[in-house]
Amino acid sequence: MSTGKKVTLSIIKADVGGLAGHHVVHPDLIATATRMLSEAKESGIIEDFYVTNVGDDLQLIMTHYRGVDSKDVHSLAWDTFKEATKVAQKLGLYGAGQDLLSDAFSGNVRGMGPGVAEMEFIERTSEPVVAFMADKTEPGAFNLPFYKIYADPFNTAGLVIDPKLHSGFKFEIWDLIEHKQYFLNAPEDSYDILALIGTTGRFTIKRVYRKDNNEIAAAVSSERLNLIAGKYVGKDDPVAIARAQSGFPALGEILEPFSFPHLVAGWMRGSHNGPLMPVSQKDARCTRFDGPPRIIALGFNIKDGKLIGPTDLFDDPAFDETRRTAQIIADYMRRHGPFMPHRLGPEEMEYTTLPQVLKKLEEKKI
Ligand code: F6R
Ligand code: MG
Ligand code: MG
Repeated sequence: MSTGKKVTLSIIKADVGGLAGHHVVHPDLIATATRMLSEAKESGIIEDFYVTNVGDDLQLIMTHYRGVDSKDVHSLAWDTFKEATKVAQKLGLYGAGQDLLSDAFSGNVRGMGPGVAEMEFIERTSEPVVAFMADKTEPGAFNLPFYKIYADPFNTAGLVIDPKLHSGFKFEIWDLIEHKQYFLNAPEDSYDILALIGTTGRFTIKRVYRKDNNEIAAAVSSERLNLIAGKYVGKDDPVAIARAQSGFPALGEILEPFSFPHLVAGWMRGSHNGPLMPVSQKDARCTRFDGPPRIIALGFNIKDGKLIGPTDLFDDPAFDETRRTAQIIADYMRRHGPFMPHRLGPEEMEYTTLPQVLKKLEEKKI
């Protein structure tokens, strides 16, 4: 432990406009966000920051000493997205301001469109963390890999052989439809955990804690834009944070489940299942059929509240086969065209534009 003071790591993201469609963030938006966060660092609101993008989502990675849900930090993020939206409008970028669902900021960006993953902890002597950021999918995309990291000994060797991990982890699971929470422990409640999180569009892992001392291990953004807005306004391309090493899963145990390009909901029009492809920062740009869904992982150390890094973790030939498999799965799924299970099921399609089409069909019903 260093100072004993709790540091907060916040990732707040929004799609406020894409270049050439729902594709990538324009460099001027990155520059605008960098300027705003530099000023906030100078004035002491935040300690440090890193601005990046995955596809069309602008990502603000920030450290500070103001705790989770800090009004100062959330309003900084909100103002940054507002400022970037102005630039997007000026450049005629596509979907300018699309994720900013409200005009009235009331102290917290939760429920207003942007996605948030945050956690507060006392910095260890060395504090390695991984920031995951995905495009063209939803928060439930983290259910399978995070279950494997924190509950599956076939993924995480430390669960079996490291006494610091051996007692297991506690999962905080959110029901996004009924707005309820569950706290369930692995390994003893494993089957219950799976009974919930297998329904990825409804139940999402929100946080994970080390069971023996309740230390925060991971956090995921769990907004659902379409539930907030009541109509389809884009998928909530999710972000997540995981602390690594020394009492938490090793860096490689955290990355390992992403070697399986599992099927996630999202892709074209937020309406299709497709493989989640781990990519480097330079390949974080959705193209084919607006996808396939992609995820990047940036590794940092936090030292005295400062972000050291990043290192681009999926920029590694060790994930080449995963990417190749993802391409094969993408071909296979695409051949289904408008049919399920490539296209999502009716419950999920309710939040898209399909009901408008079906409504018109009513006239033809006899
Ligand atoms: C998926 C996504 C895109 C759009 C698609 C149609 O999350 O953002 O696949 O849904 O490009 O976009 P509009 O309706 O804006 O032309
Ligand atoms: Mg978009
Ligand atoms: Mg996006």
